[in-house]
Amino acid sequence: MNKHYYITTPIYYINDVPHIGHAYTTIAADVMARYKRICGYDVFFLTGTDEHGQKVEKAAAQQGIQPRELADRMVSRFSDLWEALNISNTGFVRTTEERHRKVVRHIFQKVYEKGDIYLGDYEDWYCVPCETYFTETQLKDGACPDCLRPTEKLKEESYFFRLSKYEDRLLKLLEEHKDFVMPEVRYNEVASFIKGGLRDLSVSRTSFNWGIPVPMNQNHIVYVWFDALANYITGIGFLEDMEQFSAFWPCDAHLMGKDILRFHAVYWPSFLMALDIEPPKHVFAHGWWTIEGQKMSKSLGNVVDPNEVVRTYGVDEFRFFLFREVPFGLDGDFSRQAIVNRINGDLANDFGNLASRSATMIGKFLKGKIERPDVRNGADEYVEGNVRRLIEEYQKEMEIFAYHKALQDVFEIISILNKYIDSEAPWKLAKEGDGRIKTVLYNIWNSLRIAAMLLYPFMPAKSEEIWNAVGIGKPIAKVRFDDEKVFYLADDLGYIDKIKPIFPRIEG
Ligand code: ME8
Ligand code: MG
Repeated sequence: MNKHYYITTPIYYINDVPHIGHAYTTIAADVMARYKRICGYDVFFLTGTDEHGQKVEKAAAQQGIQPRELADRMVSRFSDLWEALNISNTGFVRTTEERHRKVVRHIFQKVYEKGDIYLGDYEDWYCVPCETYFTETQLKDGACPDCLRPTEKLKEESYFFRLSKYEDRLLKLLEEHKDFVMPEVRYNEVASFIKGGLRDLSVSRTSFNWGIPVPMNQNHIVYVWFDALANYITGIGFLEDMEQFSAFWPCDAHLMGKDILRFHAVYWPSFLMALDIEPPKHVFAHGWWTIEGQKMSKSLGNVVDPNEVVRTYGVDEFRFFLFREVPFGLDGDFSRQAIVNRINGDLANDFGNLASRSATMIGKFLKGKIERPDVRNGADEYVEGNVRRLIEEYQKEMEIFAYHKALQDVFEIISILNKYIDSEAPWKLAKEGDGRIKTVLYNIWNSLRIAAMLLYPFMPAKSEEIWNAVGIGKPIAKVRFDDEKVFYLADDLGYIDKIKPIFPRIEG
């Protein structure tokens, strides 16, 4: 049986247009999906849209249309963006789909029958303008923490999930799987949240209509998070295709921002335990992007449209920037100057130049044909040894989503190669005519080819361009990492010659 790998993004709310925060998580998942595919896994990569709830109901009412119509209009903003960003998702869930409604009703019913959902009274501090409940401790001097207006104690009938019952099992899960929540700071946050004690969770609402009705009581709508989290099982065929479901579940990695970690690391595994379904293997929460030092917000008018960024700088340049600039997991700041610096420095200068110089030299000094070298000296062994070491490190970093370190490994290879070219000076060797040039260009060619593969998950199109430019005929998406990570000489290599600049410099 093939190895399976299942990775997800959050399903995004459709009451807003997508921005670089949404792009970030989705590209991060795409990087892993592409990496796992070239490592030989059968990958399921799921994303989607969260279409129910009061916010959508309201937004639709304001525009005088049905919520479903709003959702239909907005969903293409997301799917079009995923296309522009070269996202290779294999599934897409909309929570308004019938297959998903069936799953949500089914699991709500099951957990109810088991006794882990019960009807009770919900009582807390309610902010009427915000239509939101707050606990005593969330209030700001008795007022709503969001709008600062007075709140009132309100009571309504609600279904509750027995979250308190799962406290011990959750702690045990965390204890036994130190990498259940990644990175480590987030693990500690989740652990202390659970240790602080869990209250049963209200999982139905009666204050609006746009959602999935509770199966045993049509006056109630299923809480949006109970509904939304279930997408992760709908998307791989729960109920509809149990064979596929069992092949991909438990999920290898749920990716998200740190804002919604608690839902994924506490509520979701508890729901699954109540259903006797295994919890996911990993939950990874990344950091938050600010824009030129400021919080991104509609009112500041600084929301960055990823479509515009892609048009200005290029899709692979944008993808690369996100993970080269900021360690995945930490907060980061998006600035145009920082993108330009990365493009001109890392890409145009270090990597692009290396590729063009190498191809040109192979064309000029070897008539475009790489040959296996007869002799090697210490400088050659140094290059090959380091490339092997850095490939191994890269693989370890990728496994734990340390994309930033994985990219550092690649750029170390690139820097070693640039130095090797300078010190070996192939243009001089060409004049000496003793065959050493064959060895040097062979080493450069192999290392460059490998660097292009290592960059493939981040920059799929540009890597392929380089891949083709150095004479490898097969599509890079179809390669097998283990076959390609060695120094080899293919017998069906194309002719290698000048290539057009792969990363043109940007003025600015
Ligand atoms: O929360 N920096 O949807 P959402 C980094 N529907 N990432 C950001 C970001 C920023 N400034 N802003 C948004 C929801 N994100 C629910 C999810 S899942 C079962 C339901 C990303 O549209 C990040 O991944 O508000 C964050 O977790 C997500 O968008 C929130 O998307
Ligand atoms: Mg949000």
